[in-house]
Amino acid sequence: MTRVVAEDEALDEAVAAVARGEAIAIPTETVYGLAADAADGDAVARIFEAKGRPRFNPLIVHVADIEMAGRIAHFDAPARRLAESFWPGPLTLVLPRREDAAIHPLVTAGLDTVAIRMPRRFCRDLVAALGRPVAAPSANLSGRVSATTAAAVARDLGDRVALVVDGGPSEVGVESTIVATGPDGARLLRPGGLAADEIEAVLGARLQRAAAGATVAAPGMLESHYAPRAGLRLDARDVRTGEALLGFGPRRAAGEGNARAFLNLSPEGDPREAARNLFSHLAALDASGATMIAVEPVPEEGLGEAINDRLRRAAAPRVAA
Ligand code: TXA
Ligand code: MG
Repeated sequence: MTRVVAEDEALDEAVAAVARGEAIAIPTETVYGLAADAADGDAVARIFEAKGRPRFNPLIVHVADIEMAGRIAHFDAPARRLAESFWPGPLTLVLPRREDAAIHPLVTAGLDTVAIRMPRRFCRDLVAALGRPVAAPSANLSGRVSATTAAAVARDLGDRVALVVDGGPSEVGVESTIVATGPDGARLLRPGGLAADEIEAVLGARLQRAAAGATVAAPGMLESHYAPRAGLRLDARDVRTGEALLGFGPRRAAGEGNARAFLNLSPEGDPREAARNLFSHLAALDASGATMIAVEPVPEEGLGEAINDRLRRAAAPRVAA
């Protein structure tokens, strides 16, 4: 049985568990994470095992401050500027890994780069109290929708983790934005909780984006991911009999009366609110028993880019599991 403990009371217990080599579920501002000591190979192996995650898919390392990050990776000037502007917050930087970094090779799946971010609140307090970096992927079964509540973590991983720290609904609701800097400029590897235009404003340059159908930039960005059981029909202008409806904004798709269940990502059409609701609404409509979820169009601006990315992945044809 898993123990669920409120975040105000959980810090000492969480630090002790991670120091002992356990993998535990914790809140971050983006989505819940499955956290373990990044230097401890057995602990990191427990993360892969609990999620059923393929070992070629590397993990994000969470740090408490820029000094800790500097002991793991080499920062170029743009990376430093982004870290100073957006950390702590929903931005992950992929940087060349230092040879002497105290990170187990399983974390980086043998790559010579490492993904690093500085989270807010509980997760950062945990890393600071532990005094070393913490590896944490999203706290969901591999290939499923990320968890934005402790209850969603418990549903997915309840029999696989001993402790779930409950920090309430995630503040941002989608995973961090992943950016790699380098001599050829900065590349957007995964749109996420920090809008790309905010990053571009600080860099004073456009982020490069992978061309559609190009090889995967972040190994975890497989097409069929974030998959609910139901199918998704995107950019729906109407609702067909038996479908559930995921709305956005004040105007409804035609035939909304046909929907067997309806939830609105944001009645006002606010992309931030929509990001916060995305995974919990998808899970709730999935639980309605509908075999198809019709999704109203979401504009591509701001966090809309990350929302549409996750929706497209959720809608992609499933690879046979
Ligand atoms: O908001 C988040 O980023 C959450 C919270 C818990 O921090 N974490 C998260 O982790 O979303 P995960 O493991 O679900 O997604 C991490 C992504 C994967 O697609 C992985 O392939 C990619 O980051 N990644 C990790 N290391 C990388 C590297 N060195 N180069 C390129 N991509 C990398
Ligand atoms: Mg994930």
